[in-house]
Amino acid sequence: MEHTNHSPADSAGPTASPEPTRFPRDAEAVGAFWDQRYTEKAALWSGQPNGALVSEVRGLRTGRALDVGCGEGADAVWLAGQGWDVTALEVSRVALDRAARQAELQGVTVNWVHAGLVEAALPPASFDLVSAQYPALLRTEENTAELALLRAVAPGGVLLAVHHQLPTAAEAEAHGFDLREYVGLADLAALLDENWRIEVYETRPRHVTEGAGAHHTEDVVLRARRLR
Ligand SMILES: C[S@@+](CC[C@H](N)C(=O)[O-])C[C@H]1O[C@@H](n2cnc3c(N)ncnc32)[C@H](O)[C@@H]1O
Repeated sequence: MEHTNHSPADSAGPTASPEPTRFPRDAEAVGAFWDQRYTEKAALWSGQPNGALVSEVRGLRTGRALDVGCGEGADAVWLAGQGWDVTALEVSRVALDRAARQAELQGVTVNWVHAGLVEAALPPASFDLVSAQYPALLRTEENTAELALLRAVAPGGVLLAVHHQLPTAAEAEAHGFDLREYVGLADLAALLDENWRIEVYETRPRHVTEGAGAHHTEDVVLRARRLR
């Protein structure tokens, strides 16, 4: 696991290339895939914190937060500005450099971790908030990614996972990807046993006008509290 708090290099890069139709499966290749995606644009996302994060976190007491797949860092920076002690995990170096630059500009401190979720080997039960906003985590038979998310939450803490309302399998296939490859919120919810209480699990409208996800109009929000 690599921790960074450095001045980022300029990561805006050359022009677009065709998007692969399948995600690679090993961590290094996943990082390279996302680096390529980020390099295609000076900014991939809106730069604003995600609406579901802002609304779900407002009532929580601040503590240690983990942002999984933090992208260009808008959520992590916002959380740090709200008083959270933030660790932000991201497999793409390009995205992480942009995120660190935003934190510097806004004068907040975030513990940036360049690693995949599973490879990061996070300390168990150590975060009061684990946030995964539109994570593109690969599904395995052992539920490795889901279990890594759940294990990171401290007793009394909250898991907040947000996804786009997914297309049907046929629509996804038409766009060249297979839904079965990715962890969905239903996969996470299925693993929540008597040690958890689901506080929110719903679909709601989403209002984003900028960035690569702007065409999505609905979010699915799962918020669960670890009881013990
Ligand atoms: C759809 S983007 C969402 C980014 C950010 N959460 C947001 O809402 O703007 C998914 C992000 O997850 C990162 N990612 C994908 N697989 C990952 C993994 N196994 N571990 C950590 N980050 C990962 C990607 O690099 C990408 O930045």
